[in-house]
Amino acid sequence: MSFDRAISEAAAILRTGGLVAFPTETVYGLGADADNTAALARMFAAKGRPADHPVIVHLAHVSQLNDWARTIPPAAEKLANAFWPGPMSLILPRTARVLDQVTGGQDTVGLRIPSHPIAQQLLQAFGGGIAAPSANRFGRVSPTRAEHVREELGAQVDLVLEGADCEVGLESTIIDLSHDLPRLLRPGAVTREQIEAVLGTTLSDPGSNAPRASGSLESHYAPQARLVVVPVQERIACAADLAQRHAKIALLAPAQTAPPRGVILIPLPDDPVLFAQRLYAAFRMADAEGCPVAVVSPPRESGLGEAILDRLRKASAPRSEI
Ligand code: TXA
Ligand code: MG
Repeated sequence: MSFDRAISEAAAILRTGGLVAFPTETVYGLGADADNTAALARMFAAKGRPADHPVIVHLAHVSQLNDWARTIPPAAEKLANAFWPGPMSLILPRTARVLDQVTGGQDTVGLRIPSHPIAQQLLQAFGGGIAAPSANRFGRVSPTRAEHVREELGAQVDLVLEGADCEVGLESTIIDLSHDLPRLLRPGAVTREQIEAVLGTTLSDPGSNAPRASGSLESHYAPQARLVVVPVQERIACAADLAQRHAKIALLAPAQTAPPRGVILIPLPDDPVLFAQRLYAAFRMADAEGCPVAVVSPPRESGLGEAILDRLRKASAPRSEI
């Protein structure tokens, strides 16, 4: 099928209440018409996600913002100008048209204008808002390849739009602008420093009254393997030590690393950009190998550092909270 045909077929599927998975520059999304209650119900069922968790509405262009957000504060205008289209989502007060299923019953809505050409073409062809969580089962790792989506959601998706591997590999930065002070709900490729420079103010972190964000639950973004995070210089010794006690240990480290006996090397570069791009695929490989434990080390400090550490911390958190 030609690219244009695939896009128009995908838009037609969305219009009739179907589900379309599509690549964005962050991760693959599972898209449904944000104005269609039956389509949204199918999307939540396919993910196995609790109904009261809000989803991000994706738009083609800033001219559509007023349909979804009842106020656009100056901070939103500044951030939209600086980082959209791109890997950023803004939480804003919702308009009356926004369905409760989209917001989890909250008075706010999450909005994003992605830059990925396939996501853009789909949004333009569809014309409306596409509600799209990451295209994984609830509590699992976000997909960064079309094949991850097919493996995990299979027949529950009507169409998977094929793209290359996602460029960022980690979910979008989420900034809550629905209160007086802007808050960083989820770090991502648009960094805290970049946002603070544009806003001219300091971002606060979510407090205990933070809005519900499933990504802010500990033990989200987790592989099945138990993840052990250690400094780079300790990773080989740590994996060797664990291999004394477990049958199969995964070591997520650069391809040229010589793994100790009993350790399965899952290639993952130390360069921060490549590390972020391939981290979730590496988690999936460790699971596919049936490793009960995976050892990984944070890459050197970089703009992506806060987002990477956040995902490693969540992936290595105790599992009881899901
Ligand atoms: O990069 C991304 O953001 C990807 C791509 C597909 O756009 N989407 C994504 O969606 O990661 P999801 O649903 O897996 O994560 C979105 C997060 C969730 O933690 C959700 O709770 C939060 O955004 N969220 C959505 N709407 C919200 C709202 N109104 N208030 C607070 N959090 C919200
Ligand atoms: Mg998700």
